[in-house]
Amino acid sequence: MSETLEEVPADEGRGLPDPENAPVLVVDGLVVEHHNRTTGEVFRAVDGVSLRIGAGESAAVVGESGSGKTTLAMAATGLGPRSGGDIELLGHSLASLSRRRLRELRPEVQIVFQDPHGSLDSRQSVRSGLRELRGLQRKRTSWIDDAGLLESVRLSPDLLDRYPHQLSGGQAQRVCIARALLMRPRLIVADEPTSGLDVSVQADVLGLLREVRETTGAALLMISHDLAVVRSVCETVHVMRHGRVVEGGPCETVFTRPADDYTRELLAAMPGARWRARR
Ligand SMILES: Nc1ncnc2c1ncn2[C@@H]1O[C@H](COP(=O)(O)OP(=O)(O)OP(=O)(O)O)[C@@H](O)[C@H]1O
Ligand SMILES: [Mg+2]
Repeated sequence: MSETLEEVPADEGRGLPDPENAPVLVVDGLVVEHHNRTTGEVFRAVDGVSLRIGAGESAAVVGESGSGKTTLAMAATGLGPRSGGDIELLGHSLASLSRRRLRELRPEVQIVFQDPHGSLDSRQSVRSGLRELRGLQRKRTSWIDDAGLLESVRLSPDLLDRYPHQLSGGQAQRVCIARALLMRPRLIVADEPTSGLDVSVQADVLGLLREVRETTGAALLMISHDLAVVRSVCETVHVMRHGRVVEGGPCETVFTRPADDYTRELLAAMPGARWRARR
């Protein structure tokens, strides 16, 4: 918890939900529309999506390119526009949160993007990047030193003085995960966290995300094209197509008894031996 949030009076006794125990994310009927100013056309990138992630849970959103996964994640975390529907983030309705309160909540929701090198400032060494983050959130980030933080993502402290271009893709993504962990997030959103990486390190990074969730208790929203990735990390999965969730539920059910034709198509397109072997 940040200092500021700790100062918020408890809701106990007033019949209001306690934000600490509330689900980390509830999306209800989310709509995101993009307006083309030239043609006047309106495009619905997200069309009435609902989902819920409890504290410490892991959920995935899968679907083909352009199905609205990133748009959903950005809107759900208050970073992207929202045209309709309700979002409750860490127990707070986004519609009623002031910009200042949203900024205060921000460290508790961390996003790991597809391109680790693109997420890091090329002019900063790993150490100076961490120093900058620590400067922004002094109290929140004092729980661990730089070497310990890197160790927690299985990186040698020797890398602290390297610049992003001196890191492999896998190392750079671990640095991004370390930077996210430094904030002690309650929700980590990972948008295709391994699809920009060499196949040889993808499994390691996924293993790390699994471990992070288990050891920190943070909830995880994972976005991926790859059903095998989802199955190895997440408990539940939501299958998206054309802005809508066509099917959702526990991975075990969706993977073994898919109810929707599109899910069946996605499963059929997977190299079968690969995902079955990972069970
Ligand atoms: N600012 C924008 N203006 C207009 N259309 C947009 C804008 N941003 C996204 N879109 C469209 O919204 C749709 C959903 O995009 P989004 O990036 O959410 O897809 P995605 O599922 O994350 O795809 P990918 O797997 O390729 O990352 C796409 O058709 C995209 O072209
Ligand atoms: Mg995307």
